[in-house]
Amino acid sequence: MERNKKSLSLFILLPVLLLCRSDECPRLPENLTCYTDYNRNITCLWNSKYVSDDTACTIHAQHKSRYISYSTSCHLKSVDMSRPDLKECSLIFEMEYTFQSFHVLSMNLSCAHMKQSLITSYMPSCHIKVNPPSKPEVNVTSVSWLSKDPEHEMISLYESEVQWKQQDQSWSDPPFQKKGDIQCENECRAELDPDKLIQGEKYEVRVRVRSVKPRPEGAWSDWSPTASWESPVGKRKPPSDVPRLVVCIITAGVVVLMAVILCTTKKHWVYVVKTMKGQPVPDPGKSSLQNVHFKSGFSSEYFHSFLKPVEMITVELISPVDAAVYYGTTL
Ligand SMILES: *[C@@H]1O[C@H](CO)[C@@H](O)[C@H](O)[C@H]1NC(C)=O
Ligand SMILES: *[C@@H]1O[C@H](CO)[C@@H](O)[C@H](O)[C@H]1NC(C)=O
Ligand SMILES: *[C@@H]1O[C@H](CO)[C@@H](O)[C@H](O)[C@H]1NC(C)=O
Ligand SMILES: *[C@@H]1O[C@H](CO)[C@@H](O)[C@H](O)[C@H]1NC(C)=O
Repeated sequence: MERNKKSLSLFILLPVLLLCRSDECPRLPENLTCYTDYNRNITCLWNSKYVSDDTACTIHAQHKSRYISYSTSCHLKSVDMSRPDLKECSLIFEMEYTFQSFHVLSMNLSCAHMKQSLITSYMPSCHIKVNPPSKPEVNVTSVSWLSKDPEHEMISLYESEVQWKQQDQSWSDPPFQKKGDIQCENECRAELDPDKLIQGEKYEVRVRVRSVKPRPEGAWSDWSPTASWESPVGKRKPPSDVPRLVVCIITAGVVVLMAVILCTTKKHWVYVVKTMKGQPVPDPGKSSLQNVHFKSGFSSEYFHSFLKPVEMITVELISPVDAAVYYGTTL
């Protein structure tokens, strides 16, 4: 009975253990990154801080099992002259679709004058970075692209991200729009929200993909080439952006002006608060007067809350980053 229970629990535990094991990715040493197209190419980048430029360094990789063995090597070379410590090379294997999801390779990085070599395990399925997808096509609000062209035999599912923006904006500042979490096999499509488009405006769109199967969360590919189009749908184009800015400035000006007027006409309230702060023992006659004033809402808190909107408006006109810094330092 007891034994039966044990074997039963083992029976349940074993597949769980196997599942866990297959999920484990061996970690690469610090400063070595190797991505694979999951076909026959592993490209490694090594930050060789303490190795002089002219030292010959080699990476050797091999997989040995009962059923299949393969190996290859490459010579690390500096990527660009301005950063000589950054060395790169591609391990190219003979056979197409060499890797299986459970394959583990042993890697040996050694340099001519280095006493020790760097030995590590590498599981290609844990480091998939696919090539960028094809240039997307746009038909009104529909964007379509091929996640992999030609099709990849070993990757069955991709996740895509689409980004689009007006042609004169830059990809680095965030008013660009994006849509993530699009899962597709090869032919992918996304619908842009026409409310986020302006009729007659010129736009640009780009996509990137990462593999989801055989293993979730591959690395993002580089961006696809950019496609541009002029939107036939969307909101009406506002006459120009200037009026909105003018309205903003005028509103801010009016608020500041009102604040100044209020400040000068209610100067005696400021005076009351100031005299109160300056006098630790208030004159009883005056203090009763002050109590009345404070009941009517003119506490020092009132003055703070009253000044804040003005501060905020002037700060907002500078930039949101400055505003954050401003409040960070004042708080
Ligand atoms: C990795 O690179 C950093 C910065 O270049 C360096 O400080 C660190 O020692 C390197 N680590 C190894 C293990 O080489
Ligand atoms: C291997 O992959 C790297 C990085 O994607 C690429 O630059 C290189 O051209 C590829 N080599 C071959 C032979 O496919
Ligand atoms: C790693 O490569 C170096 C140079 O090729 C060699 O001397 C060393 O024995 C290799 N180590 C292993 C564990 O394969
Ligand atoms: C664009 O989409 C419409 C409707 O979905 C279709 O009839 C038309 O053929 C498409 N145009 C192109 C160039 O694919």
